[in-house]
Amino acid sequence: MHHITSASEDNTRVMNRSGLLTRGLQFCFGTVHGLSYSVKCVLWQRMNQTPVAASKHRIFEYANSQISKGQPVDYFEFGVGSGGTFRFWLELNRCHESRFYGFDAFTGLPEGWERFGKYAFSTQGIKPEISDLRGGFVVGLFQDTVPVFQRTFERRNRLVLNIDCDLYTSAMFVLTHMNPFIRSGDLIYFDEFNSALNEFRAYDDYSKCCRRTLTPIMKTQSGNQILFEVKS
Ligand SMILES: C[S@@+](CC[C@H](N)C(=O)[O-])C[C@H]1O[C@@H](n2cnc3c(N)ncnc32)[C@H](O)[C@@H]1O
Repeated sequence: MHHITSASEDNTRVMNRSGLLTRGLQFCFGTVHGLSYSVKCVLWQRMNQTPVAASKHRIFEYANSQISKGQPVDYFEFGVGSGGTFRFWLELNRCHESRFYGFDAFTGLPEGWERFGKYAFSTQGIKPEISDLRGGFVVGLFQDTVPVFQRTFERRNRLVLNIDCDLYTSAMFVLTHMNPFIRSGDLIYFDEFNSALNEFRAYDDYSKCCRRTLTPIMKTQSGNQILFEVKS
């Protein structure tokens, strides 16, 4: 006996097949796309002759003393966590006119990253305690806080941007939103640059999309922590 298929059954089958095909193609393109950033990241590090520092703290010291020459800075840290690096910068640059802004939701990563799950690095919503009046925290997801913050922010000093938020979405959002304030001579530091699909990809996409030239100044041995100067 022949089974007579209705038009709607046929349509469902065609749609299932094309849905499967679309998902398969998306997976393949996603893998190739991911691989291209991974290859680019490895090649970038191999070809790069950037001077090496013993640790990220030496990079910060170099940034503060050699480039900024102890001048006041508008320091931004995107991804503050428990605040160790934020406090380090407060100690490092003692200029009265410097301003220090720390952005974080303090509830951890909004998406999984590498081997870490969603909410990794959470401090249960608790901000670090600081007594230095030059510093303050902007609490919430960057996607909510940065657009509001930038409505009233007026640049006064050289910008130092510390990108330590691990994720592509977070880093890319921050870089493109801060772009109108960024001038040549500003400093941009990445803390997880070897994460090819995340901070490296954000650096690569941002430089291209916003037509920026970033020159590497100093890095750690692995190249995972790296400081750039904005040239144009
Ligand atoms: C590795 S931790 C930062 C560590 C810190 N800079 C230090 O040196 O101690 C990454 C932080 O990024 C924050 N983060 C990542 N994406 C974010 C987003 N879109 N909005 C707010 N916070 C975010 C997480 O909450 C987390 O605290």
